[in-house]
Amino acid sequence: MTAQLLDGNALGQKLRAGFKQKAEELAAQGTRPGLAVILVGGDQASQVYVRNKVNACAQAGIHSEKYSYDDDVAPQVVLDKIAALNADPKIHGILVQLPLPKHFDADAVLEAIAPEKDVDGFRAENVGALVQGQACFIPCTPYGVMKFFEEAGVNLKGKEAVVVGRSNIVGKPMAMLLMHAGATVTVCHSQTRDLKGHCQRADILVAAIGKPKMITCDMIKPGAVVIDVGINRQPDGKLCGDVDFDSAKDVASFITPVPGGVGPMTITMLLANTLESAERFAST
Ligand code: GUN
Repeated sequence: MTAQLLDGNALGQKLRAGFKQKAEELAAQGTRPGLAVILVGGDQASQVYVRNKVNACAQAGIHSEKYSYDDDVAPQVVLDKIAALNADPKIHGILVQLPLPKHFDADAVLEAIAPEKDVDGFRAENVGALVQGQACFIPCTPYGVMKFFEEAGVNLKGKEAVVVGRSNIVGKPMAMLLMHAGATVTVCHSQTRDLKGHCQRADILVAAIGKPKMITCDMIKPGAVVIDVGINRQPDGKLCGDVDFDSAKDVASFITPVPGGVGPMTITMLLANTLESAERFAST
């Protein structure tokens, strides 16, 4: 079997076409949606992600502001900027690119963002609302993955889903969304005993480990939907995911490529959350 490709560039473009119209409607009513992105340090991957987020805003008609700080900046400088952005009526979403340098208390920084501007959905209130199935900002990467299922017509009810990776950014919210959609969810990590056995039972397999090509085709149930959240740089400079794509594509029914799978969907859903936030501000 050769899997169908879940193309994040194509789905992202499709969704973003509607976003531009929405942004223009809001702007016409006096609320141009605005996103502030904060980048601390020189991590190359983060720089690329932030640039892509800012460019995506421009294409969708969303105002954006980028604030970059050196690795050794005092955390208070960033906290002061967040406080100013919390009070800035031009800004409806604030994103602090992770990871932060080691001398930062990342939780304290995230908690400094006003809950109504937490378009990443990482604050405790948002996470709590997500767990309870209440309205919230859904973290962008798992939100984008759910859009793939919707687009491909994958019914999650009663399915066995395995999420490999337990980060606050992806693994935990992903598990929650799959659970809300009616799947039976197992959360594993790279050290889980019999990881292979767990993966082999998965109708839906989400890999968010950060280890290049760790999920090999012998770990995949024939016909499974395979979502690869990993973005790893190989020694030759090329990107690869956490899944060994070349062998997995012959076993899976659907699979995301890297690059061009989940990555563009994360950015797409950041735009969606920023628009949603602007809409809420406009109606209050
Ligand atoms: N680093 C990796 N993924 C993300 C994300 O979705 N949001 C933020 N803020 N940082 C990240």
